[in-house]
Amino acid sequence: MKVAIVGATGLVGNVLLKVLSERNFPISELILVASARSIGKIISYQGEDYTVQSVESAIEARPDIAIFSAGGSTSGKYAKQFAAVGTVVIDNSSFWRMDKEVPLVVPEVNGSVLTKDDLLISNPNCSTMQMMLPLKVLHEAFSIKRLVISTYQSFTGTGVNAVNQYEAEKKGEKLSAEECAYPHPIFANCLPHCGDFDDTAYTTEEIKLVNETRKILADDTIAITATCVRVPVFGGHSESINIEFRNEFDLKKVIQLLQDSEGIIVQDDWKNNIYPTPLDAYDKDEVFVGRIRRDHSIKNGLNMWVVSDNLRKGAATNTVQIAEYLLEHQLIN
Ligand code: A2P
Repeated sequence: MKVAIVGATGLVGNVLLKVLSERNFPISELILVASARSIGKIISYQGEDYTVQSVESAIEARPDIAIFSAGGSTSGKYAKQFAAVGTVVIDNSSFWRMDKEVPLVVPEVNGSVLTKDDLLISNPNCSTMQMMLPLKVLHEAFSIKRLVISTYQSFTGTGVNAVNQYEAEKKGEKLSAEECAYPHPIFANCLPHCGDFDDTAYTTEEIKLVNETRKILADDTIAITATCVRVPVFGGHSESINIEFRNEFDLKKVIQLLQDSEGIIVQDDWKNNIYPTPLDAYDKDEVFVGRIRRDHSIKNGLNMWVVSDNLRKGAATNTVQIAEYLLEHQLIN
């Protein structure tokens, strides 16, 4: 496969190269792309040096697959230009996710929506992604009526600027407002503000959780509300998820279903202080679920705690899994 990575110098781009190498993804030619300021930089992959190129030269090379992780505006501008030359684009940004023509895919959950005709495929938002694995299996079993989600999202999800801000604040240094990713300190703080506010007082991350969940689970009837919080945590995103089911459930059956699901590891031995944490989830591809318990305040209510490495399953790993799915199911030549 001739593979292009657009955003190869970014945080997700970096993890992408690691994941492609670990999983031995079949690459015959690798094209690394970043913004104008990085053209000419050298990045090594599996012991070979690659020179960072412009998007235009990557389009001319007509790769089989282009994985985008370079922000919404870059995807908006270039994804269709790649698709026009026959490249399958797997896009990590939010730009195309809610487009009716573009599948939004977590392979273990809804890989079956992919077809040979899809030249533009979206990767879900990191906080949506990790909860899709447990929610899909529970929705199938007991039918989800309503979700109340509170996230504790790692600053790494905001990209390089956020990491620079965190590191500077940790050392007691102050960056200029332009250099900062957030309007408040992130070190030793938490911000109930992920993405941008819209006119309704919700943030873009909160809206993404609602809309993307409904699209991936193919069910617009699920009532969903969310509060997304950015925390000074490295390693992964954590989520407290309160679920109201339409049907009665058995707690042991819930745990069994989660334990039997591909990509999920249940860590739920509270008597021995066993539950998922972002430090433990760091650098792993699975979604970790724990604190699984009944919500006694409503009929058919369940609480759980879901953690995953936001740069791996939440971003890089899922894009590579989509590419692998296309190959395995012969949806790409
Ligand atoms: P660059 O490093 O040259 O700015 P992050 O989300 O970690 O901040 O990374 C964003 C990634 O997207 C980087 O690799 C960045 O390259 C890349 N990028 C940003 N704008 C463009 C663009 N217009 N064309 C190609 N790549 C871009």
